[in-house]
Amino acid sequence: MATVHENLLDWLRDAHAMEQQAESMLTSMSDRIENYPQLKVRIDQHIEETRWQKTQIESCINRLGSSPSAFKDMAARIVAFGQGLGGVAMSDEVVKGAMGSYIFENMEIASYRIIIAAAEMAGDAETKRIAQEILMQEQAMADWLLNHLPELTTQFLSRSETPDVAAKR
Ligand SMILES: [Fe+2]
Repeated sequence: MATVHENLLDWLRDAHAMEQQAESMLTSMSDRIENYPQLKVRIDQHIEETRWQKTQIESCINRLGSSPSAFKDMAARIVAFGQGLGGVAMSDEVVKGAMGSYIFENMEIASYRIIIAAAEMAGDAETKRIAQEILMQEQAMADWLLNHLPELTTQFLSRSETPDVAAKR
């Protein structure tokens, strides 16, 4: 049996591991993008948000009397999941990467909805407030990706058809 408090702490640790993975996925994606400046700018903005989210989650974990140390299990699973979404080495890398990022954002959205409900039940108003703020950033990123996928696809296809123009990333 686990208390609400224990479950909330577990989910915050998972969220911390998830944000770490998000940071490394987004950073490697941004570093590789060469021909899609609009996407790169939005990703770089979300990298900054993600770093801020990580510190906020750490503050929640510390306030609940723990430390963001032992993430191992969930972290390993999220890393495997994230690598599967990376799309590196595919000829349509930029399209797969954007799709993978959209999927990852939606996992984050689900995680913060869970944390908000648990924080509410635990009577932890500060964690709830922080998770709501993070949720808005994740939702904005997911919306942006979804709305820009058609345009990105069109750009990719046009570049692919043009001789001597790189399309992959
Ligand atoms: Fe995030």
